[in-house]
Formats: sequence, C-alpha cells, structure tokens
Amino acid sequence: MKLAERVNKIQPSPTLAIDAKAKALKAQGVDVVGFGAGEPDFDTPENIREAAKKAIDNGFTRYMAVGGADDLKDAIIAKMKRDHGLEYTRDEISVACGAKHTLYNISQALIEEGDEVIIPGPYWVSYPDQIKLAGGTPVFIMADESTGFKITPKQLDKAITPKTKYLIFGSPCNPTGTTYTKEELTALGQVLIKHQHVLLVTDDIYEQLIYDGMKFYNMPQLLPELKPRTIVVNGVSKTYAMTGWRIGYACGPKELMSAMTKMQSQSTSNATSIAQKASVEALNGSQDAIEKMRLEFEKRRTYIADRLNTIPGVSCFKSNGAFYVFPNFSGCYGKTTPSGKKIENSTDFAAYLLEDAKVAIVPGIAFGDDRYARLSYAISIENIKKGVDRIEEAIKNLK
Ligand SMILES: Cc1ncc(COP(=O)(O)O)c(C=O)c1O
Repeated sequence: MKLAERVNKIQPSPTLAIDAKAKALKAQGVDVVGFGAGEPDFDTPENIREAAKKAIDNGFTRYMAVGGADDLKDAIIAKMKRDHGLEYTRDEISVACGAKHTLYNISQALIEEGDEVIIPGPYWVSYPDQIKLAGGTPVFIMADESTGFKITPKQLDKAITPKTKYLIFGSPCNPTGTTYTKEELTALGQVLIKHQHVLLVTDDIYEQLIYDGMKFYNMPQLLPELKPRTIVVNGVSKTYAMTGWRIGYACGPKELMSAMTKMQSQSTSNATSIAQKASVEALNGSQDAIEKMRLEFEKRRTYIADRLNTIPGVSCFKSNGAFYVFPNFSGCYGKTTPSGKKIENSTDFAAYLLEDAKVAIVPGIAFGDDRYARLSYAISIENIKKGVDRIEEAIKNLK
C-alpha cells in the first residue's frame, strides 16, 4: 500500500511510545519504574466524576454543537475572566478533544505552505510535527540550563521573519518545567508588539502547576494590546487529572474560532458530550483538589531534583512548574555499560536504563536536545525514590 507522503513528515509521539513500552513490560510482570508519563497519577476529583454520571443519566449522550456546548463555553468565559482578567464571548471560544487537538486545529486553520512557526526549545514533541503536517516550517529557538531553559527577547526578535505566522509559547513548559516571571513575559511580549504580523499561541495547560511561590501569567493579560492576535489554549487534562476525558479549548479571534469549528465539523464533530458536562463542573465547581495535587507535585519536584543533583555526572535544573525535570545526563555519554555497549546519546542512555535498571525515561532528543532526558514526577514519592536509586546504581555501573 502506498501511504500519503505527509505520514513520512512526522514521528509517532515518542513520549506515548515510551509510556506504552513501560506499560507493556509492567503487564508482563516486570517491575518497571515509569518516569515517562505526561499525566497526573491522581484520580479525577469526585465532584467531576459525579457530574459525568449525572450527564449520562440526564441523557447528555447525543451529538452537540461542534465547537462546544454553551454551558461549557460560559464556564470557560468565567474562568478566563476570574483567573486572567481576559474577556471573551461565546463565539471567541472553541472546544475540541484535548489541548492537543485544539493546537492541531489552530495549525490547520492558520498555516500555509512555507509559513514559519517559532517554537522555543526544548519543546513539547507535538508542536513541530503538527506544524509540519500543516505544511509549515518549525523555527526553533533553543535554550539550555545555563539560562534556566529560557529564551531571551533578543533571540525571539532575531527569529522573526516576514514568513513568521505565530509563536507558540508555554510557561510552565513541557519538558523543562521552566516558568517565566512576569517581567520576562512582558519583555518577550514587547518583541511581539513590534512585529504586528506575528500571532501568539499561548499554551497554558500547566498554569496551575507552579511552585516556589511563583505566579502564573500569560502575555495577553500583561499586555492587553496583544489580545486581538493571541490564541489562549488550555484544557482540563493536567489541572483536574482528566487526561482521558479529552477536553481542551481555545479562546481567540472569532474568525479563527469559526474556522477551527468548521474543520472540526468534518473530522471529530463535538468533543464527548459527557466529558463536556464534567468539564463544566471542573471549571465552575470547587477548586480545592488542585491545591492538594499542586503541593504534592512540589514536594516530589524538590525531592527528585535534589536527589538527581547528588549523582556524579548528572545536573538537574530545579524548575518551577509542570511535573517534569529535564536533567543533563551527558556526563554519562562515552561510557560503557556492563554488557559492553557504549552510550553515545540520550536514546542509548534511556535504552540502558530501561533494559538494565527497569526505569523508563524519555530521551531528550525527542524534545530537541540530546544532552538531556525528561523524567515525569507524576508518580508516587516511593516510586520516585526507587527509580532514582536504580538510576544512581546504573550510572555507578558504567565504566
Ligand atoms: C505542553 C502541552 N500542551 C498540550 C498538551 C495536551 O494536553 P491534552 O491534549 O491532554 O489536553 C500537553 C500534554 O502532554 C502538553 O504537555
């Protein structure tokens, strides 16, 4: 069978692949510690689960408006005003099957062949591939631990060309957990103000997972003149431990929201009716569960970063958000495993850990920098301890 050329432009999601491999080993009875998952290990809070059960019993089981039910749009509008002081109307909201699908719709609705999209790196794996699928060219601005994985206004300014369509920006960021301050975001936003043709897609999916007393901001709330050309992307997956429910949304110019909805009408149609009802409860109901989860993540972040930093050959930047650390393991490259294999890069290192130490991590190359690997701390503190003990031992065994 001859498949379409577009399939060859992209990679299967490497993070999902690692997670699947670790889960398959576990299913065979192997005791694997999986640092691969990009999802909270907590259950969806009870009030949200109850709302879903009620939705089924009340018959919310049919096709709905493609771009989202009005009560969910109203809950999103209220959230945007409450948390960010940003005002939207229903026609400026579009609901899809997760933030990933929302970002996909944006790329399909905006990008033309040859358009450039700026992505700060290390970056979330889906950004470049979605852009390539739409015929665009990803333009990376790379940062490393020497700047806390933060890009500078100067770098952003330099990356913008007449072909730049949008900047896709996330703080806290996946895979580094990097969280920009209000001042840093303002300085980056000011560069965008200078370049009127550039749109901003702000991926706020980790907005609630911030530590060390830092506060979340997005650029349009700091610089209201950016709002007319900003698309805010968010969802319920990470904040409410609802990754499987598949609800994400965008807030932005109505012309774009309507284009995204039009395209969605020929692909998935509406996001699941029951999950939409559950998301109304997530956004409007008690927010208490978030703080409990946030505090637990913060404790784990401190533990894992501090422990990794005690291992010779490893340095781990202690970032302030999300549920990932992105340690530099390049001090282990060039060494040989007990079975005689030389470790040349992050893929070799991850394979060694999985085979010899039964620990799953995601190689940094998937996120644009081969010196690093991503470890998710969305697992219990006992498992984090067990996993880091194994990593320490495995590194000790390298010659
Ligand atoms: C940076 C970032 N954006 C968006 C998403 C997508 O979230 P979902 O599709 O579950 O809403 C993820 C999930 O891993 C992510 O890490």
